[in-house]
Amino acid sequence: GAMTATTTAGAQDLPAVFDGEFWADPYPAYAALRERAPVRRLDLPGGPVWLVTRYDDVRTAFTDPRFAKDWRWTLPPEQRADAPSTPMMILMDPPDHTRLRKLVSRSFTARRMAGLRPRVEEIAAELVADLPAEGTVDLIARYAFLLPVRVICELLGVPAQDRDEFSAWSATMVDDAPQEAKGEASAKMGAYLGELAARKAAEPGDDLLSALVAVSADDDDRLSGEELVAMGMLLLIAGHETTVNLIGNALLGLLTHDDQLTLLRERPELTKGAVEEFLRWDSPVGTAPVRFTTEDVEVAGTTIPGGSVVMLGIGAANRDPDRFPDADRLDVARDATGHVAFGHGLHFCLGAQLARIEGEVALRTLLDRYPSLTLAADVDDLVYRRSTLIRGLTTLPVDLGGGQLT
Ligand code: HEM
Repeated sequence: GAMTATTTAGAQDLPAVFDGEFWADPYPAYAALRERAPVRRLDLPGGPVWLVTRYDDVRTAFTDPRFAKDWRWTLPPEQRADAPSTPMMILMDPPDHTRLRKLVSRSFTARRMAGLRPRVEEIAAELVADLPAEGTVDLIARYAFLLPVRVICELLGVPAQDRDEFSAWSATMVDDAPQEAKGEASAKMGAYLGELAARKAAEPGDDLLSALVAVSADDDDRLSGEELVAMGMLLLIAGHETTVNLIGNALLGLLTHDDQLTLLRERPELTKGAVEEFLRWDSPVGTAPVRFTTEDVEVAGTTIPGGSVVMLGIGAANRDPDRFPDADRLDVARDATGHVAFGHGLHFCLGAQLARIEGEVALRTLLDRYPSLTLAADVDDLVYRRSTLIRGLTTLPVDLGGGQLT
């Protein structure tokens, strides 16, 4: 199709990337790239993109300042100064990124995150209580999505009645939607967050948005109104679109690997490590948000020209057999640390601790409540989202097999 990669000298007949069979199972394509074209130029509809797939190269690039986040590096030098920058931290470089990251880190503390665990457990228990005692349910819509959405909305202080609207905007912004629809969703979310921030300023709560508003009212360094809205949007989108896939991909992994499911049921103490393994084995963020080269950069013998768009292949790196022995095997008892599912370096995921808690609680709650879960569909019929960024299922039909009250 139109999205198929073009050929590069010496690398003909590589499987398609971001097209065809790729969505259902990207790992054979990633394996071929790691071996035969570890730095691969793809011609996507939006323009050329360089995809890096080997673990060592990806990890190194994450900390190389020549792979920048500011899109203006794609412009000729004389146009850069006049082009608009974006106030969103994940799209910025030092020193601007450093400043915003420091400000938000003040509110996003390890203690605040750890303190959320009991509430995450309550929400998971509520969601499970809402599931039918038996029969078939879509665990993406009814569980994997709702848990992180409720958590992030509560954390930020978004009122419950606004949640659904929020989720719709967020989905439009990340999905394969037309540019116009994306812009509209983003504008609506921005306007809403601006109003919400104003309400929090007048009437502060115990939530993260109130804390961010307080930071922005500080005398010395502060978040501007625009930066505050951008930060709120970033956290909401990150909270909506990622953890759902950790939970969904992990559940599918268990439902298709009986021995691993049995092991995790018998040894609950493995759950924490299992979450790391799921993050590695089927990474929810398949490729990191793009980088832009500030100059020509050589990686694995290939020169990526300055001003190029670069994707760091997280999902590919985490299956690299040079880093993880028997990398394609799901093994919940293995030591999966060192995976790059949350990125690496300056932009390392701010929500990693929260996401890990959510993953652990989600799996534990469901496994404990339902002793005989089975997949209620043919694996080959499951549909994945068509996103270059996100790796996750659209639905996960599961037969609950009758619950057990605990
Ligand atoms: C950054 C993955 C959950 C907030 C990142 C990055 C990755 C990532 C790969 C680095 C992006 C880059 O280098 O370009 C994930 C995964 C998650 C998850 C796999 C779930 C399993 C969350 C949650 C939140 C969050 C729940 C918020 C509550 C952020 C923020 C950044 C980020 C704010 C940007 C950090 C910066 O630019 O300094 N995440 N994330 N993430 N994540 Fe997450």
